[in-house]
Amino acid sequence: MKKGFVFDLDGVITDTAKFHFLAWRDLGKEIGIDVDLKFNEQLKGISRMDSLERILVHGKRQNDFTPEEKEALAAKKNTHYVELLQDLTPADLLPGVKDFLEAAKARQIPCAIASASKNAPFILKKLEVFERFDAIVDPATLHKGKPDPEIFVKAAELLGFTPEECVGFEDAQAGLDGIKACGMYAVGVLSGEPLHGADQTVHKLTELDLDALLNA
Ligand code: BG6
Ligand code: MG
Repeated sequence: MKKGFVFDLDGVITDTAKFHFLAWRDLGKEIGIDVDLKFNEQLKGISRMDSLERILVHGKRQNDFTPEEKEALAAKKNTHYVELLQDLTPADLLPGVKDFLEAAKARQIPCAIASASKNAPFILKKLEVFERFDAIVDPATLHKGKPDPEIFVKAAELLGFTPEECVGFEDAQAGLDGIKACGMYAVGVLSGEPLHGADQTVHKLTELDLDALLNA
């Protein structure tokens, strides 16, 4: 029997991936780097600073900025991103999320958030589901980002379970790889690009049978 659920945030609970894209695309324009939707796929699940590094390498500008300038670029992207989040409401929960969380609550299955985003608490409050989660991993406490399994191991630990006792939900390949690397059961949430290595893939959480999942 599975005992806990571990959710990624961006692309699983809500579609904030589009706002990350818009904010990186505009920052890219300012520094002469083209960030298109295809390249953006490589940024999903990746931390803010690591995303910036990838963008700079993509534009062959990795040696053009000091650490302080990179901090300023990342901060500028985040300011724009947070502006785009202001109008977020519970209506922005992805289809099936609310019902799934309610069903998990009814069965007393604890839920955690394992997101690389430092904006996760703010977003969850906007969506009015902050209280619904029993644990939120603070990405600032991590040594390695996804695809390292650290964040998923930590989430399971916060719930009081082993990774094998949990089910992880991810829309990004980096996250899925992290889930599988610690022996957690992986549900891939498809949003465009195919995902490899998931135990099960869905387009929406409405497709899931919670009881079957708990027995997976
Ligand atoms: C992940 C997103 O959830 O969080 C990434 O998939 C993002 O695109 C990362 O870069 C960090 O988010 P934030 O909000 O801390 O910049
Ligand atoms: Mg995601």
